[in-house]
Order: sequence, then C-alpha cells, then structure tokens
Amino acid sequence: MTAFHRALVLVSCLFAPMAMAEELDSTVGKALFDRKWVQAPASTNAADGLGPLFNAQGCATCHKNGGGARFSAIGGVLGVAGFVVRLGDNEGNPDPNLGRQLQEHAIPGLMPEARIEPHLEQGADGLSRMLAKIAFTQEKPDPATRQEFRVAPPLLGRGLMARVAAQEILKNADPDDRNGDGISGRARIIATPEGSQLGRFGLKATAASIADQTADAAMLDMGLSSPLRPFPYGDCTKAETHCLANATGRSPELDGEEISRQMVEMVAAYVAALKPLPAKANPEGERLLSATGCTACHMPSLKAETGEALPVFTDLLLHDMGDGLAGAFPDGFATANEWRTAPLIDLAGRNGKRRFLHDGRAATLDEAIRWHGGEALKAKDLFMNLPKADQVKLIDYLGSL
Ligand code: HEC
Ligand code: HEC
Repeated sequence: MTAFHRALVLVSCLFAPMAMAEELDSTVGKALFDRKWVQAPASTNAADGLGPLFNAQGCATCHKNGGGARFSAIGGVLGVAGFVVRLGDNEGNPDPNLGRQLQEHAIPGLMPEARIEPHLEQGADGLSRMLAKIAFTQEKPDPATRQEFRVAPPLLGRGLMARVAAQEILKNADPDDRNGDGISGRARIIATPEGSQLGRFGLKATAASIADQTADAAMLDMGLSSPLRPFPYGDCTKAETHCLANATGRSPELDGEEISRQMVEMVAAYVAALKPLPAKANPEGERLLSATGCTACHMPSLKAETGEALPVFTDLLLHDMGDGLAGAFPDGFATANEWRTAPLIDLAGRNGKRRFLHDGRAATLDEAIRWHGGEALKAKDLFMNLPKADQVKLIDYLGSL
C-alpha cells in the first residue's frame, strides 16, 4: 500500500460512516486488483512478494475489468489470458514435484515449470475440446499425475452469490434425488476457522468467501502469501529446492506476510462490488429457460437473509455433468464429474473473446448447452427438441444476461 492508500484507509476508519468505508475499501481494492506485483526484495515493500513461480503478475491479467479469461486467435493460434493447468492424481493430491498447478512464469534466475499452449480440437460431434501442448522445463510430473484445464470465470455478480442465505442453498440440495427428478445437487460444507460454512466460489465451490478465493488466487496464481495462506513460496514443492531458496516479501507491517489480511479483504470488497448489468425484461426468454428445465439448477433468483431476491441464476450446488464435461480428478469432496452450477451472469460472447464452460471449450452458448450431460441431460434434450426459433430466442436471452 502506498502512504496515500494508507492515509485513505485511516481516514475511512476514523471518520467515514460504514457505507463510505466500504466504498473506500473497494476503491483501494481495485488498485490492488489491478496492480502488477514484483519480486522481493523491492523498494516498494508493499508491492513485492511475487512468485517465485507464478501464472500472472496480477488479478487483472486473468480478470481484466473484473471479467473472465479472454481468448484470441491470431493466425490460427489460440491465445488465452486466464488459462491454468491443475495437477492431481486419481484422488486429487497435488503432484509431488510440480504442485497443484503449473506455473508458466518465474522470477529472474528461475525456470518456469512449463510452457503451455492451449488449442482447440473439433470432435466428430461438431463440439470443440480444449487441449494443450505442454513442454516441461525441469521437473517432470509424476507418471500418475493427471492434468485438468480451467479458465478464469467472470467476476460480476459474485457479491450477490456471497449474500445468498445459507438455508436457501441447503433447501435445494437433494443429494440422493429424493424427489426423483434426475437432478441431485450437493451442497459443499467447508471447515473454516470461523466454523462450518457453505462453499460458494470456485468452479467446484471450494471457497466459502470471496476473500478466501482471493487469498487462494494470490498464493497459487501469483505466489503471494497472506494470513489466510501463510506460505510465501506459492506453489513451490519440496522437490523444487531452487524455488524455495529465494527471498520472500514478508513484512511485519503486513501481518508478517506478503499481503495483509486487510489487503485481501479490500480486494474482496472490490470484487463483491462488481455488479452484473441490469437485465432487460424478457418474459419469453424466462419462460423458455424454465420450460426446458434449466432453472432446476440455474435458479433465476435466490433469497438473501433480508428476503431480497438476488438474480444469480445458480443454485450454488454441485452437479454431476456427465463424462463429457468431467475434469481429470476429484478434489476430496467433489467428484471429477461435478461442477458448481455456473451463474448465468455476463454471458455476452464479445466476438469470440469470451468462451464458455470450465475450460473455455465452448465458443457459443449453443455449444455450451450441447455439452450438458449427466443430471442436465434431460434439460439438454428438451433444448435440442425446441423449435429452432425458440432455441434462438433462448440463446438471445442468455446472451443478454
Ligand atoms: C492465472 C489466472 C488467474 C489469476 C491471476 C487470478 N485468477 Fe481468479 N480465477 C482463475 C481461475 C482459473 C478460476 C477458477 C478457479 C477454480 O475454480 O479453482 C478463478 C476464480 C476466481 C473467483 C471465483 C469466481 C466464481 O465464480 O466462483 C474469484 C472471486 C477470483 N478468481 C478472484 C481473483 C482475484 C481477486 C485474483 C487476484 C488476487 C485472481 N482471481 C487472480 C484465474 C485467475
Ligand atoms: C443439472 C444442473 C444443470 C441444468 C439442468 C442445466 N445446467 Fe447449465 N450448467 C450447469 C453446470 C454445473 C455448469 C458448469 C459446467 C462446466 O463449467 O463444465 C453449467 C454451465 C452452463 C453454461 C455456461 C456458463 C459459463 O459461464 O460458461 C450455460 C450457458 C448454461 N449452463 C446454460 C444452461 C441452459 C440454457 C440449460 C437448460 C437447457 C442448462 N444450462 C441446464 C448445470 C446445469
């Protein structure tokens, strides 16, 4: 934090009423979100601690303007900002040599773990798959390690998801499909220092709060420690001794870590304040979404504690989406096939810059729907059987969300 930022925070704590304090947090949070971190030691103590291994220098590299992964195709070569490769064995344990995720950047003097070139391949069914050519530079993964691709989701509306009342989520969970509709839905319970909480964030609902997801991203994607993730070497493993030999950016002024709890919370406040665009009324689109059974999972709204209806278009539950959409490994709670229902927020395609599903394989909303299987197979079939004109209306509606 610069002296100016510190002064701002101080002023906000001393004089500002609550709402104004939140606004200030989110303004400073935006600056931290957009910041490009540097390696330690640096003259600006509060901006160092990057790496040693990292995927990006800042949140905004993968979530520009609070959006998700951005795709480009230049001369047929796919470019993605916000693409990561997760590693795990058949139980989801991290790779002993390379950790939970491959880092394709490192501070000077250190080799990145791998070069990663994602590319798309079209199957006989006309649907694209996401693949990647990976060249390891030093350590090789264990032979039992599998790879799973994920892309950064857009962050608008996550503040709404944080405000959904816990009982709203639990009420819709139906792990054993007692109501026999073919759709189960499992709530993820996470043990936190503040007691058991519901998992809401991350593609498999691994994080209970935006702050927790922020701390995890800071550690895993950028190599920044915080009181929530007090390890300054990011995703370095014991085997990566050259990685563990570097200076850290830990500082007594920052709770003894590379970023303080307050900094994590200010970034989270900024993310929580990213509002979805106001939805235009579209009764026909809404009717089709419900008639095809999409709303069994993509619930148009869930209630806050106050009773306010929050337009999240998700039940925040995990669903088995079939083998076609399966990831490469379970994670201790979610199976490989399970994903948290994606909120249908910020779905505009932006001329191919935005793609869909957990690894960005789907170029269009139509393709994203055709990938639905498992518990969503019935809804997909209902969509496929709609008259073409209704399919177009539904897709247009989704694209406006
Ligand atoms: C290297 C790219 C990358 C960087 C850098 C990055 N993210 Fe992400 N972000 C992702 C990916 C990939 C996911 C999905 C992760 C998962 O499910 O495990 C994600 C998920 C999230 C989510 C959860 C969204 C949801 O729908 O539940 C939040 C919130 C988030 N990131 C915030 C941040 C913040 C804040 C930072 C900076 C501290 C950050 N991210 C840095 C790639 C990135
Ligand atoms: C059984 C629950 C379920 C049903 C029913 C369902 N979905 Fe989904 N949907 C999901 C899950 C889970 C994901 C995330 C899958 C992934 O990323 O691999 C998802 C992802 C999506 C996405 C991609 C969003 C993004 O940001 O990438 C779209 C679009 C979508 N669904 C639309 C629909 C439509 C339209 C219907 C009805 C025809 C439907 N879904 C029915 C659970 C469901």
